[in-house]
Amino acid sequence: MPSSSTRAPLDGQVAIVTGANSGIGEAIARAMAAAGAAVAVNYVVQPEAANAIVSDINAAGGRAIAVQADVSNEAQVQAMFAATIRAFGTVDILASNAGLQDDAPFLDMTLAQWQHVLDINLTGGFLCAREAAREFVRRGVRPDVSRAAGKIIFTSSVHQMIPWAGHVNYATSKGGMMQLMESTAQELAPHRIRVNSIAPGAIKTPINHAAWATPAAEQALLELIPYGRVGEPMDIGKVAAWMASDDADYVTGATLFVDGGMTLFPGFSTGHG
Ligand code: BGC
Repeated sequence: MPSSSTRAPLDGQVAIVTGANSGIGEAIARAMAAAGAAVAVNYVVQPEAANAIVSDINAAGGRAIAVQADVSNEAQVQAMFAATIRAFGTVDILASNAGLQDDAPFLDMTLAQWQHVLDINLTGGFLCAREAAREFVRRGVRPDVSRAAGKIIFTSSVHQMIPWAGHVNYATSKGGMMQLMESTAQELAPHRIRVNSIAPGAIKTPINHAAWATPAAEQALLELIPYGRVGEPMDIGKVAAWMASDDADYVTGATLFVDGGMTLFPGFSTGHG
């Protein structure tokens, strides 16, 4: 076991972070780089945003590359893993984060909207996790860098448990992700692969910009958050870096809600009956 006093928690490890050119993915990439990991910053559009993050990490003495891939495309996912392994030798950590919303009232939701969200949020998680697990099993534990052969962290959502009218495709994708994570965790634990989810609440990112962009919107959102503030991307990034580290070595199959209490049923805070 590496001595934690002399090295950063993710020193010598390689992380792929999907959807890492904005929002929560960007924070995870930056936090894991700060914790010592070499990072593949995945993006599908806006390469300039990915390149800027890579430049920042490299300028700070870290190691990063930008890798384009649509996570719902099997060949592109495999090419992303191959490019990362070419650059950094292996992969130790997958932060499967890429996700989107394509909202519509249920009666109007098209098959294309349903399929698009399921493809990116759920099938994308499957394809990336499978590729990561293949590399972890092939390589096995490297005791000099980590007690685990590999770590997979899904970015889920409070909506893996909170139903969400008007967002049925999105909530379904996150509910499915819960079983993707737990069943994979059960199957891969004997290989010493840890699989977990972080379930963010409302975090200030482009995905929910309208929900916090004006003071009135933010006030309405705060009604749902007992802790009294909307989250920042680094609230998730730091938890992800910890979850990937050996400090969390006995954590597998867990969903950690990082939501300022959104899942505490705040509507009941005044009691009833
Ligand atoms: C959604 C956001 C929403 C938050 C809390 C997230 O998973 O992507 O749009 O603000 O959940 O409801």
